[in-house]
Amino acid sequence: MTTATRTVSYKELGFVNTREMFAKANKEGYAVPAYNFNNMEQLQAILTACVKSRSPVILQISKGAREYANPTLLRWMARGAMEMIKEMPGGAVPTALHLDHGDSFELCKSCIENGFSSVMIDGSHLPYEENIRLTRQVVEYAHQFDVTVEGELGVLAGIEDEVSSEHTHYTEPAQVEDFVKRTGVDSLAISIGTSHGAFKFKVKPGESAPPLRFDILEEVEKRIPGFPIVLHGASSVLNSYIDMINKYGGKMEGAVGVSAEQLRKAAKSAVCKINIDSDGRLVMTAVIRKVFAEKPGEFDPRKYLGPAREELIKMYMDKNKNVLGSADRA
Ligand code: G3H
Ligand code: 13P
Ligand code: ZN
Repeated sequence: MTTATRTVSYKELGFVNTREMFAKANKEGYAVPAYNFNNMEQLQAILTACVKSRSPVILQISKGAREYANPTLLRWMARGAMEMIKEMPGGAVPTALHLDHGDSFELCKSCIENGFSSVMIDGSHLPYEENIRLTRQVVEYAHQFDVTVEGELGVLAGIEDEVSSEHTHYTEPAQVEDFVKRTGVDSLAISIGTSHGAFKFKVKPGESAPPLRFDILEEVEKRIPGFPIVLHGASSVLNSYIDMINKYGGKMEGAVGVSAEQLRKAAKSAVCKINIDSDGRLVMTAVIRKVFAEKPGEFDPRKYLGPAREELIKMYMDKNKNVLGSADRA
């Protein structure tokens, strides 16, 4: 087992791990939002929306986001953000800082040393026994610091942080009990038909997207009752923002996501973490395109990033209240 060289504790930064968040979400039938961020405006919008709607929140950082923003700066941004929300009306809400799609032990270890309260080790593309070995290694290290770990079984179609897969491999319910027992993970991401990005299903005009495989989710729940389940690839790819992008010079015909109804149904089940990144990207792109189209002389970034941030706040608040059911649960 690799022992500790921890430099900063997430507890000092004001974060919590996901254990209690998930226990409460499971008991009360809602899902905690896990929103990705890469920059200041996204971080401000996520936290402002969650404080205003009194929702617990998981701030997610992918490997790519960490490289983009710089790990040291990110740590201080996260600390600053926690100080910011303490001063907001109503005060802080339970907030976890989570590594999304960690692809190696070293990356998980580095995040734990830099103040993350939760990490995902994504060995879903590995052979089963290798996935178990890698996940177990991360769990043994993380639990020394009370950091929680998310594992994954089954592969989503689309891009998972540089790992891309053409086809979905649904989670095999027969494997989940063994996987959870042998790895010691705190939560499990499963594949029931969602995928990453803004083009989740190939749908002909007038047709609706195929339903998620709730039968697989039910089988999983039977085998590991009460265990926290995670849904990746859960953006709804809202039509209003796709229309706005296309209207103002973008080209995103055929973009389609997971309906709010299906997410609401999932949130009431053992799914207690729902991952949303693409919806935030689409909002920013739509608003920035609109400002550029309507005010071609504008060159102050605050004049297009500011309105994008405002629209993001609205979208996240709506998700918390009307889709995930996490509002007023902080
Ligand atoms: O699941 C993937 C997330 O949307 C992160 O995407 O690797 O482009 O930051 P990224
Ligand atoms: P979306 O691309 O559907 O937003 O999924 C995000 C995600 O799963 C991050 O891990
Ligand atoms: Zn994901």
